[in-house]
Amino acid sequence: MDKNYKVAIIGCGGISHMHAGWYVNEPRAEITAIADIDKERLKAYGERYEVEKHYTDYIEMLETEDIDLVSVCTRPKHHAPIVVETAKHGVKGILSEKPMAENLGQGRAMLEVCSQHGVKLAIDHQVRFSAPYQHAQQMIADGVIGDIFRIHGICGGGDLKDNATHTVDLMLYIYGDRPVSWVIGQIERIGTPTKYDLHSEDFAIGYFKFEDNVRGIIESGNDTAPGYHHIYCYGTEGEIELAAPGGPGIRFRNQETGGEWATPELTSEITPVRDLINAIEEDREHRSSGHCGYATLELLMAIYESSRKRRRIRLPMEEMESPLTLMIEDGWV
Ligand SMILES: NC(=O)c1ccc[n+]([C@@H]2O[C@H](COP(=O)([O-])OP(=O)(O)OC[C@H]3O[C@@H](n4cnc5c(N)ncnc54)[C@H](O)[C@@H]3O)[C@@H](O)[C@H]2O)c1
Repeated sequence: MDKNYKVAIIGCGGISHMHAGWYVNEPRAEITAIADIDKERLKAYGERYEVEKHYTDYIEMLETEDIDLVSVCTRPKHHAPIVVETAKHGVKGILSEKPMAENLGQGRAMLEVCSQHGVKLAIDHQVRFSAPYQHAQQMIADGVIGDIFRIHGICGGGDLKDNATHTVDLMLYIYGDRPVSWVIGQIERIGTPTKYDLHSEDFAIGYFKFEDNVRGIIESGNDTAPGYHHIYCYGTEGEIELAAPGGPGIRFRNQETGGEWATPELTSEITPVRDLINAIEEDREHRSSGHCGYATLELLMAIYESSRKRRRIRLPMEEMESPLTLMIEDGWV
């Protein structure tokens, strides 16, 4: 198969190795250029993945090289400016790391510029591609547990924007990325924690309603019930449990299993990179599209906004700045 897609990676830190692995294993893609402001990192990364074109200025790279796909693997403050600039340079697709952005204003700018320039934007909530969650999404769509009425997600450790962004994203994904009407939530912040250069919190809880009345509960942080991306789905005719602590990746029970837990046979997985190329070739949205990333970010921001305003927050959110940042600036937390 021809390597039709020339790839650039911006930011050669920890997570960029996961992206490199996906490209190395993708027959249609080849990493042709890399950019990082840290020369040592750039050199080591280039040697490891046999990439000769190195840039300390990613804009110079985009102006010099003919690039089709870009992975943005920098820290969150840089996601929006880099995606917005990259989209103006004739690329076909961008896979940008989570969280989508620092705030909804940035997220909206990313969506707008990618739409204007016909660029497929994907946000790297890669757990959407993990077989148990993929399977759960299909089982719910197929009515295996009847009509779903509640989804409870637990993300023990970390904070909303760093770790629970995956859990919330998975809750939306398995229920078909349906719209959410409102969110109510609370956070606790002790001291001045940060994660990846963003303000952070120690504990958070969010309760939300999908437009069709299904309810979601997300617990995140240092004092949750046990579990990591642990999601429990309640249906009228059964239950699905994902990443049960000490249990399998997925199990379910319904009348057909006699009420006993059963483990389904899982289908094979693809990578976010393969889906990005397929989305470009089929002219469709990526499984973890920019719009999905925005919906996840909006739910996280609505938890902060509810904590700030001490009331339910109806979506779409109006506040485009991070309400956590606003609370901190006002000296509330
Ligand atoms: N999807 C996941 O499961 C997952 C896991 C870990 C981290 N992440 C996310 O990945 C992002 C990066 O995390 P990390 O651990 O790799 O961080 P990191 O600090 O190790 O790497 C960031 C790299 O970006 C480089 N950089 C900074 N500014 C730049 C610029 N203007 N141009 C080019 N390079 C620049 C830095 O020099 C550094 O090498 C974060 O948003 C984080 O939340 C995602």
